[in-house]
Amino acid sequence: MKKILIALALIMSVLATQAEVLPRPQFTGGMPLMDAMRLRLSSRDIDPKSSVTRQELSNLLWAAWGITHDDKHTVATAMNRQELILYVITPTEVSRYNPDSNTLTVVNTGDFRADCARQDFAVTAPLNIALVVDTAKQDRPEFQAYTAGAASQNMYLYCAAVGLKTVVRAMLDHPALATALKLPANERVLYVQTIGR
Ligand SMILES: Cc1cc2nc3c(=O)[nH]c(=O)nc-3n(C[C@H](O)[C@H](O)[C@H](O)COP(=O)(O)O)c2cc1C
Repeated sequence: MKKILIALALIMSVLATQAEVLPRPQFTGGMPLMDAMRLRLSSRDIDPKSSVTRQELSNLLWAAWGITHDDKHTVATAMNRQELILYVITPTEVSRYNPDSNTLTVVNTGDFRADCARQDFAVTAPLNIALVVDTAKQDRPEFQAYTAGAASQNMYLYCAAVGLKTVVRAMLDHPALATALKLPANERVLYVQTIGR
């Protein structure tokens, strides 16, 4: 009996650390790029009851920081340092995006939206994505801001193209966010992008 319990505990811990495989990003559909640029805007009137599908989340993460050519990303990075990390904050958990495998790894469970928001609409929005930089890979603020800003703009354009609402935010509670995301000392949040309908 004891052996069975130990085996069960082992299986449970393996399952708990397994990453969620996201649907393959869709590279067709949407609208012409020039139309998406024309429609890009910040929206804060996000319905707390709205949701973002796993397919949309996968497309959005790919647009922000997916792999394109030669192990490179949708965004250029100074000296190819690739310092960006995306954390996905939902009403139930916080996960880290792994662009190589198109997976999400849970880093914290619970509702941490209040920790990533100083504005009410973000506390109730279905999805927040933290744009985090690895300062050990890139320590120059102007390069970090370029990378995170370009990824944010890609998310804005994807949202415009499919009719999602979004706004990027820099007004943040950094210590609370670092705790909620369980950030190591070398990782720093630059912005959080709020998304919904
Ligand atoms: C770096 C940056 C930080 C921002 N921070 C916030 C923020 O904390 N809260 C917010 O509601 N909007 C924030 N915004 C959104 C701006 O208010 C918005 O982009 C601006 O009003 C222009 O509107 P538009 O995006 O619709 O063109 C931020 C935008 C940028 C680029």
